[in-house]
Amino acid sequence: PKTFALQGKNILITAGPTVEKIDAVRYFTNRSSGKMGYALAEAARDLGANVTLVSGETNLSRPLGVEFIQVMSAEEMFNAVKSHMQEMDIIIKAAAVADYTPKTVLNNKMKKQDGNLTLEFERTTDILKYLGEHKEHQYLVGFAAETDNVEEYAMGKLRKKNADVIIANHVANSAIGFKSNDNEVEMFFKNGDRVLLNKESKKKIAFKILHEITSRWES
Ligand code: PMT
Repeated sequence: PKTFALQGKNILITAGPTVEKIDAVRYFTNRSSGKMGYALAEAARDLGANVTLVSGETNLSRPLGVEFIQVMSAEEMFNAVKSHMQEMDIIIKAAAVADYTPKTVLNNKMKKQDGNLTLEFERTTDILKYLGEHKEHQYLVGFAAETDNVEEYAMGKLRKKNADVIIANHVANSAIGFKSNDNEVEMFFKNGDRVLLNKESKKKIAFKILHEITSRWES
């Protein structure tokens, strides 16, 4: 990739899992480590971009030289993204956002009862969809974590969420996707282009993803 291919561009990247509270001590989350999103943030920074990283709770250290916004829930992530979307040139949604959140959150610890427990969940805002509906100039990049029918679901998301590219992750394979240091992804562009990035470190994949995006964007 060109050394400063993203010089002066504003890029917002979301990373990691969201955490949805159930009560004072329990929560609902997912297996995202944040590695893919952080690798993208560091790669974009190295390519000269002004990077805003909106991150769920992870064990990773904060990348230097990026604006860092810590969030917990899907709702907090939505608010952070919404308030920064206007000034962005590129938005990359690498976070694993909860689709559902508990309908009521107990302030105290829930007591054990006889019998089974049923919790009611409600839908969260689909941040990517919101961005697709409200974007003006922003180049919008979504991820799709799928275990099956990867191509079909990725193409569906591309259309439904009005994204410019969807990056599909075959998460059924535990050597790639959630938590692993390596990834293998396939990019599905709005113009019909398809690019397979074979298995290697998330750091290298991050540079390749940004290269594929900038080379199309400029042309
Ligand atoms: O964090 P790692 O351990 O490195 O793992 C990387 C990863 C597998 C988490 C990442 O590469 C990935 O695939 N992220 C997207 C995971 C996901 O939530 O996929 P999805 O198919 O449920 O969502 C599709 C897209 O919509 C994603 O861009 C997601 O950020 C977005 N979304 C989903 C739900 C929601 N309420 N709002 C959203 O914006």
